[in-house]
Amino acid sequence: MTLQEIESTKTAALSEIAAASTADAVEQLRVKYAGRNGLVPAMMKGLRDVPPADKPAFGQALNALRVAISAALDGRKAAAAQGGGSRDAFDFSLPGSWRGVGSIHPISEVIEEATRIFAQLGFTVADGPDIETEFNNFDALNTAKHHPSRDARDTFWLGPERLLRTQTSPVQIRAMLAKKPPVRIINPGRCYRRDTTDATHAANFHQIEGLFVDTAPVSLADLKSTLSHFAREMMGQSVKVRFRPHYFPFTEPSVEVDLTCHVCKGKGCAVCKQSGWIEILGAGIVDTRVFRNVGYDEDCYGYAFGMGVERIAMIKHGITDLRLLYTGDLRYLRNFL
Ligand code: PHE
Repeated sequence: MTLQEIESTKTAALSEIAAASTADAVEQLRVKYAGRNGLVPAMMKGLRDVPPADKPAFGQALNALRVAISAALDGRKAAAAQGGGSRDAFDFSLPGSWRGVGSIHPISEVIEEATRIFAQLGFTVADGPDIETEFNNFDALNTAKHHPSRDARDTFWLGPERLLRTQTSPVQIRAMLAKKPPVRIINPGRCYRRDTTDATHAANFHQIEGLFVDTAPVSLADLKSTLSHFAREMMGQSVKVRFRPHYFPFTEPSVEVDLTCHVCKGKGCAVCKQSGWIEILGAGIVDTRVFRNVGYDEDCYGYAFGMGVERIAMIKHGITDLRLLYTGDLRYLRNFL
């Protein structure tokens, strides 16, 4: 044992103790250095073999080593108990780091709210893929071979019989092929059309499909009451609902449904093209030919509807340009938190 050894043991011990960040680590170092079989007591025993003339100097050095280590251990133990010690301790005076709090996008909000409303009426959520067959998207829905919506200028074709669905209506077919009546389903999902993007159109948008089939008679009155109830729950009791005759290949009779314009409250403005109304969905009584195409009895009864999610979000929040829903600009979307 030399005086230098004592000194270097001290340096090593103090730096190890300073690096200990947990109470456990401090305790391990206490055992290593100051414990009964630790390094310091062992060196103390070695004092016996030191020549008498050197004893005072060695005694002093060893004592200083013992005191320094025990003070360092005590200090470190207290710091570790307070949560990591002074080097790692949390500084409460620093400015906080901000993590953006997420919120529901207006499109998801409409889908969630519609799902809730229809769930109360006994509808469950059905599913279907974005890539569809020509049969499900057109043929089974009684769409004529020459119908313009099949044109490659309107539909994204992926192959001879594969396409990006142009509507959520193919989910009607999937639901009926999977199950006999009664059927009560809704399907929120993405649709694709080769539309040029403008304030009210996008090539990629959302619809919510609904299908109700039963073996007992179902009439246009049932459809009207269901959709009127939905509109009032979604938009508030004061909203007015208008049903207009229309044509769809898979429903007969067919209607289009309008709500009072949110901007002018029905007086007429640029958003509703001076009509006071905004169209939000197509609907009708399921055509018997569709039942035939899915192998249902022809004495089934049913109604179906398909609504535009973006349109509803726009009316609900007074959004005048659909593109704002897709830019992902948080400064804008935060308005709807
Ligand atoms: N699929 C039609 C459309 O996209 C809407 C619709 C759905 C009409 C169900 C009638 C019944 O325009």
